[in-house]
Amino acid sequence: MAKIYFFLLACILGSVAGIGKYSREESPEKRWADYFMRRPASKIADKLEYIREKSPFAPPKNDINADICFTEECLDASIALLQSINFSVNPCENFFEFSCGKWLADNPLPPSSSRWSHFDVLVQEVNEVTQGILTTPEKPEDFKPVKQVKELYTQCIDLAAIESEGLALVIGILTIDGGWPAITPNWTPAGFDLLTVVAQA
Ligand SMILES: *[C@@H]1O[C@H](CO)[C@@H](O)[C@H](O)[C@H]1NC(C)=O
Repeated sequence: MAKIYFFLLACILGSVAGIGKYSREESPEKRWADYFMRRPASKIADKLEYIREKSPFAPPKNDINADICFTEECLDASIALLQSINFSVNPCENFFEFSCGKWLADNPLPPSSSRWSHFDVLVQEVNEVTQGILTTPEKPEDFKPVKQVKELYTQCIDLAAIESEGLALVIGILTIDGGWPAITPNWTPAGFDLLTVVAQA
């Protein structure tokens, strides 16, 4: 396992150091979609099979007794490493290219980013999981804060309601007592007191 963690660390550091080395030949969106499509199915047996197929290292003689982690998380980490390594490079000649070459080739800089690394991929995954939670309909067993956050999120993305409501509510708040310079027609400073307006809003 120590070896695997070393590779992971090298790859994370390498991908941070390797910002800007990305190939832009293929459409980044396509390569990004391909990257997710290539991820193997979520069953442990499938993952193990995939690792055995891709890994150039000989499998341990007896998996059951070997001191090796076979949880799904460990297998996912192994797969991520296998998908990052460029095995056609000799690690003694170019360790960076060996440990991270394939990751760099498979993860071009998305058009919306000026940098891209393992950390950005993780952030994207966390955002997707969070969005999945927020868009799951409210369940009776949800905790109250979860219900509230789901409701707030649903309201935030309800563009139809936002459009139909318009700015009436905000303008109502801003025009209390003296109005607001930028939005009140024929506004005059007389009688306007910023503190009063802010306090009442
Ligand atoms: C792996 O390294 C070889 C030799 O440097 C290079 O020709 C090849 O394009 C690399 N493959 C990937 C996927 O980066």
